[in-house]
Amino acid sequence: MTDAPLLDISGLRIAIADGRREHVAVENIDLEVSRGEILGLVGESGSGKSISMLSVMGLAPSTMRISGSIMFDGKEILGLPERHARKLRGRRIAMIFQNPMTALNPVLSIGRQIVEALMLHNPFWSSKQLRMRAIELLELVAIALPEKRFSQFPHELSGGMCQRVVIAIAVANDPDLLIADEPTTALDVTIQAQIVDLLNTLRREKNLAIVLITHDLGLVAGLADRVAILYSGRIAERGEVDDVFSVPRHPYTAGLLAAIPAINTDRSRLHVIDGTPPSIRARPPGCQFQPRCPISIPICKDRTPEFRWHGASMVACHRSAEVELIKGAVNDS
Ligand SMILES: Nc1ncnc2c1ncn2[C@@H]1O[C@H](COP(=O)(O)OP(=O)(O)O)[C@@H](O)[C@H]1O
Ligand SMILES: [Mg+2]
Repeated sequence: MTDAPLLDISGLRIAIADGRREHVAVENIDLEVSRGEILGLVGESGSGKSISMLSVMGLAPSTMRISGSIMFDGKEILGLPERHARKLRGRRIAMIFQNPMTALNPVLSIGRQIVEALMLHNPFWSSKQLRMRAIELLELVAIALPEKRFSQFPHELSGGMCQRVVIAIAVANDPDLLIADEPTTALDVTIQAQIVDLLNTLRREKNLAIVLITHDLGLVAGLADRVAILYSGRIAERGEVDDVFSVPRHPYTAGLLAAIPAINTDRSRLHVIDGTPPSIRARPPGCQFQPRCPISIPICKDRTPEFRWHGASMVACHRSAEVELIKGAVNDS
């Protein structure tokens, strides 16, 4: 018997109104995350990572038309009235938004900001209770001298420490699911590693499910259990990290992997996939990756590839069965 996933997204489609036309930003997205599991959500800028997860939070702009299904803990949450969505947000599903440096309010002490997050969902706590819990949270995210830090302002803290505070606020009410949108992008490498450790600890100790949005496949390799690779608003490939990274079945995945020095065994050259993804206003018919694909065939131009299963991996490529060819194409190009 297997437990139903905590988050189960299927057939997610997000269309953005543009005058009388609409552009499809995200289509046919299927994702699952279980408790205690980390899912890496990877893709180039504009591939739809943030808006997909904002729609889980019920925070997508109202100009977007969202359809499909987002099940959370067994209940449909897509289209939930705002007053119900607000109860889920912060309490059961929390998000670390992109741009950590703007996430904190510069004129409030960090203690105050944590307390406000706590008060939203615990209106009857005393100020003593709130303060104690806030200090506990600062300890949880490994901030030294939490009593002192409590009354300091964001500008008195380093970037890495600010990001810890952002994480403390996100997990303040013990959520079941944490969505972290590029949580380490603005930080230097050492601090990145510390934040990664922190996320891993939270997952282990709190059985927290995490969606880790990143374009850093190295980070996914080190932290995530499963990975979903997005390309132009669609899933190119998803599966267990070990499976996908050892045998990529989508040429886009293979290209991305070849571009990571730590994973790429041939360190003499760094592979970069030529070209850029199509604009949301001019997406080609057929496979979105076709214009950049080193192994495309005529059908790729005409027909959107259906998902195919290979073991536990799901792949949208007409040639996903031809593993050796995909590997070879990346090495040759
Ligand atoms: N508020 C918005 N209004 C209009 N288009 C948007 C908005 N937010 C995102 N988009 C478009 O939706 C697509 C996906 O964006 P996003 O989810 O931010 O990508 P990612 O997080 O993967 O970089 C992009 O084409 C982007 O231009
Ligand atoms: Mg984004």
